[in-house]
Amino acid sequence: MSNTVHGLRRRLATVAEPRLRAARPTDDELLSAFLTRLSPASAYSRFLTGVGGPPSARLLAALLPERPRGGAVLGFLDGELVGHALWARLRDPAVAEIAIVVADVHQRRGVGTALARAVIDDLVAHGVEDIEVFSSTDNRAVARMVARAAPDARRELDGPTATYTFAALGRVESVSRTA
Ligand SMILES: CC(C)(COP(=O)(O)OP(=O)(O)OC[C@H]1O[C@@H](n2cnc3c(N)ncnc32)[C@H](O)[C@@H]1OP(=O)(O)O)[C@@H](O)C(=O)NCCC(=O)NCCS
Repeated sequence: MSNTVHGLRRRLATVAEPRLRAARPTDDELLSAFLTRLSPASAYSRFLTGVGGPPSARLLAALLPERPRGGAVLGFLDGELVGHALWARLRDPAVAEIAIVVADVHQRRGVGTALARAVIDDLVAHGVEDIEVFSSTDNRAVARMVARAAPDARRELDGPTATYTFAALGRVESVSRTA
């Protein structure tokens, strides 16, 4: 009993509610510093390739797309950038891929879930109907987030990677431009 109460306290104490805002092209330096601080494991899980050192200008531009091609949402805790979520329209403009990354020390605190909700609301507000998420098959965080957000998501396996596809059900709200 006391363990349960203690466990509940610990769990509540670690939950974080990030301030969220739409990213702008001028966030490139902020985003670059955030990505450079990621552990190799987190960077690999996000980009599925080894990205050492600061990201290229080309990668940063792709991570800060302008609507209606795509969009990005940034999450802040105490003024520090702790997460980035991207949606990018695919060849079929009614379909977008989403991808999220949270700073290592703030993972498992609900930041990724908050960013996922915001980015889905944003893409729904821009007319996207279906979502794809691409990850390694052993990415348990992604599997759990998809299972919670879209229990009927389709999962296609291709060697070490998985693509989840599900209908975009957001609140038709675009993300605020200020955090
Ligand atoms: C994936 C990621 C964005 C999730 O963000 P987060 O802030 O840690 O996620 P949350 O705290 O909101 O947790 C979401 C769910 O994932 C689970 N989870 C998070 N990290 C986990 C881990 N390392 N192992 C297993 N489950 C994990 C949580 O328990 C939670 O599941 P639940 O709702 O069923 O309890 C973050 O772990 C990350 O940045 N990982 C590296 C980059 C990456 O893999 N990006 C995904 C590419 S699309």
